[in-house]
Amino acid sequence: MATITARENVQRLVPYVAGKPIEEVQRELGITDIVKLASNESPLGPSAKALEAARKALENIRMYPEGSCYVLRQELVKHLGVEPDMLMFGNGSDDLIHCLGLAYLDPGDEVVTAAPTFVQYRAAALLAGCTLHEVPLKDYTYDLDALADRFNERTRLVFIANPNNPTGTMNTRAEVERLLDRLPERALCVLDEAYYEYIDHPDYPQSIEYVRQGRNVAVLRTFSKIYALAGLRVGYGIAAPEVVRAVDQVREPFNVNTVAQYAAAASLQDPDQVLRSRRVNDEGKKMFCEAFDCLGLKYAPSQANFVFVDLGRDSVEVADALLRKGVIIRSGKIFGTPTCARVTVGLPEENRRFIAALKEVLA
Ligand SMILES: Cc1ncc(COP(=O)(O)O)c(C=O)c1O
Repeated sequence: MATITARENVQRLVPYVAGKPIEEVQRELGITDIVKLASNESPLGPSAKALEAARKALENIRMYPEGSCYVLRQELVKHLGVEPDMLMFGNGSDDLIHCLGLAYLDPGDEVVTAAPTFVQYRAAALLAGCTLHEVPLKDYTYDLDALADRFNERTRLVFIANPNNPTGTMNTRAEVERLLDRLPERALCVLDEAYYEYIDHPDYPQSIEYVRQGRNVAVLRTFSKIYALAGLRVGYGIAAPEVVRAVDQVREPFNVNTVAQYAAAASLQDPDQVLRSRRVNDEGKKMFCEAFDCLGLKYAPSQANFVFVDLGRDSVEVADALLRKGVIIRSGKIFGTPTCARVTVGLPEENRRFIAALKEVLA
């Protein structure tokens, strides 16, 4: 067969490295009792209402989904108090990041984000042949003034994960607004709020307001985290109708499947499950931070459902040792921070297992 090479921009991309699935560890190490704290998934699982809606929706899967996500759109209109034409939907918010890249980036345009941060921003920029400015974090946090220093007339997309993945740190309303005041006219600022529902901080920006004010902002949220529907793949964005239209022009016609649409809509009807998940998360984070303090480990203040900790040694080795004890965490090596690790908050007993195993490994 003749060698067929992919586009040069594609060759520069690194395929996404996901957290190790439980089944893979079971197969490789023959361990059965495994705790996975590696992919920022919700340990409590989805609302019973979402599961019931998903089962019901299964009865209709011989037919194509509603491309407009009608029912979910109506529910979110009520939930967020926005207009229907301000909402866009994706096969996970990953899909929307990709679509925003397709819709807005031409070769020669520039994209500004931080490093380390969520890898899909980099993918969107590189795929389009854009110059990517990755501004180092300051104290584990996006340095938004330094991001704004990179703005110029070629800046087209600005990606901000708030809170950031992998560090869990948050930017305040004042910081975000200072950056927005410096945003060039033809640039769109994407505020990725995948962990929005976990946050309880008085200075967190109410970013939908920026969209209402007519600023060039797109807000991204997801049902993968607190709503625990990661396996169904559904995320959404709130933006000006012209941004929504641009994404509509590039997205796949049926990018959100029927089961995901109905399960997501039903999960909005169960605020108690969100509260329960937030409580489990807050307690687990407290448990982690106390254990890290006890072990003398430095960690970033997290507003999300994971904690980024500096283990003070090669985190791949620590993660491997934990894996042999049946605990999966994420080494920071893939984020360019080789002594750090990202640990997702689990159920209390899972958190205790992780802490006990970590103490043994570090001893
Ligand atoms: C900051 C951030 N944005 C987006 C995503 C993607 O979420 P989804 O499952 O909706 O594609 C993640 C997932 O980890 C994330 O951390």
